[in-house]
Amino acid sequence: MEKLERLQKVIAAAGVASRRKAEELITSGVVKVNGKTVKELGTKVSPQDKIEVNGIPVHKENHVYLLMNKPRGCVTTMKDEFDRKTVMDFIGKEITERVYPVGRLDYDTAGVLLLTNDGDFANKMMHPRTHIPKTYLARVKGIATKGSLKPLVNGVKIKDYVTAPAAFHIVSTDTENDSTLVELTIHEGRYHQVKLMFEAVGHPVKRLRRDRFAFLDANGVEQGKFRHLAKSEVKELLRIAEEEASEKMPIRVMKGMRQY
Ligand code: URA
Repeated sequence: MEKLERLQKVIAAAGVASRRKAEELITSGVVKVNGKTVKELGTKVSPQDKIEVNGIPVHKENHVYLLMNKPRGCVTTMKDEFDRKTVMDFIGKEITERVYPVGRLDYDTAGVLLLTNDGDFANKMMHPRTHIPKTYLARVKGIATKGSLKPLVNGVKIKDYVTAPAAFHIVSTDTENDSTLVELTIHEGRYHQVKLMFEAVGHPVKRLRRDRFAFLDANGVEQGKFRHLAKSEVKELLRIAEEEASEKMPIRVMKGMRQY
């Protein structure tokens, strides 16, 4: 029997957009199946069905998973309204698939960034229920102490939200420049989260780098370069995402999370 799949899943799997964005495309009326506009989210399609988004046929692409060492001075959108450099400028012609960033890093943040054309995978990595650990190295203003950073462990209020448990480690202090180097592991991905967390404890971030996304780091990958993830790495990320999502979250101190 022919395999029927949900329209939004097929669009996401083809690398056109994330699952959520694919749903928006469908409901906004720009998706056609065999020439007919379809706005129903549950619609099932077969491999024979001709799908178009904005009049462009959707072709299934091989899935590609990249780990980039993002440099500072570029945005993680596909295109920038102010014409700033984007991470896509570093991908080049070598990758013909339509990859896009999994989540975001700020313009002035460097470090580990995943890119893919697998909408399902991207969705699983970014979903709010998926608490994948992300470790950042921050140079913060002032001399931070275990005491001044302690609120980060239980959660701090940023805007209208209290953050989930996090773990920190003071790497070094620089009294001359009145700053501290701190490693922070969080399990969420809110807008400007790390900067807002440090601000909440009175130590604004001067410089930020994402050192790890789950077990992945940028060792051996120069800034502005990328590498393909191994199949086993993709599998392990999906396993972690599933495990984290199935836990009775939201607040628990994560496995393998170092407490200092
Ligand atoms: N938190 C931030 O504040 N900025 C980033 O780029 C990533 C996490």
